[in-house]
Amino acid sequence: MDFSQLVKQRRSVRHYEIRPVEESLLRQLVEAARWAPSALNMQPWEFIIVTDPEIKRQLGDTAAILGIKWPHVKAAPAVIVICAKKTSTYARDDCLLAAQNIMLQATDLGLGTCYVGGFSQDAVRALLSIPEGYIVPGLITVGYPANVPPAPDKRPLTEIIHTNTFKGRGVGLSAHKRAWQAFWKIVRGKAAGRPAKAGPEPETEALPPGALLGGALSSKPLEEESLPPDALLEPPGDLWRHPDESDDDDTTA
Ligand SMILES: Cc1cc2nc3c(=O)[nH]c(=O)nc-3n(C[C@H](O)[C@H](O)[C@H](O)COP(=O)(O)O)c2cc1C
Repeated sequence: MDFSQLVKQRRSVRHYEIRPVEESLLRQLVEAARWAPSALNMQPWEFIIVTDPEIKRQLGDTAAILGIKWPHVKAAPAVIVICAKKTSTYARDDCLLAAQNIMLQATDLGLGTCYVGGFSQDAVRALLSIPEGYIVPGLITVGYPANVPPAPDKRPLTEIIHTNTFKGRGVGLSAHKRAWQAFWKIVRGKAAGRPAKAGPEPETEALPPGALLGGALSSKPLEEESLPPDALLEPPGDLWRHPDESDDDDTTA
């Protein structure tokens, strides 16, 4: 497949056919992973391919963030658990680049994948006997797609390209803040057992926060609400706080 097509065709697939994925294909995914770049070529990655239904079930039970569960972890025929050896500051970055190789290779093979970053680190490490000195940056569910969702909104090039300096373009923190407020509103609405006011209700419990944000924001023009729909699940620093906590980040670039 043409590479430009391939990158656009990859989707986060959360519904899979029951049929197993051939072992040779799973190995091919890891083969793609090992050709990823890594800082100082340290290749700090290990990959656990989980196909055992009972282990997958338990893995699925650990895969949740803020009480939102990801049933596709249990349901996928295979889950690739990425382990990063903490010998380098960049171990996590290296592993995410390897993860992208896996997902693109999978797309090329007609497989669907979904990167899952929302899970209990300790529970996954204990479940899979991952030794000290390793972290788990993420899991990748793998299977033949039963349903490929349409592409979510992606921010336009004109919005994300800056020339020479950052000045005059880009998303301001205020947009991030609005997005997080929308997200918290949905989460609090759900916790209180009433429908969310911030936007349309998500289709299923399985939708990630990013998808919820996409739904909550889609009624506004993209230029105004320029946060990507796949809003960071673990945003750095102070973005990962409740929006009521502070109000000092309203600067727009
Ligand atoms: C770091 C990271 C963490 C993610 N965590 C989850 C997750 O926990 N559960 C999930 O269902 N999707 C997760 N996703 C998938 C995103 O929701 C998805 O990439 C986004 O909505 C954009 O859709 P697309 O991948 O089809 O382009 C994650 C993606 C990334 C990059």
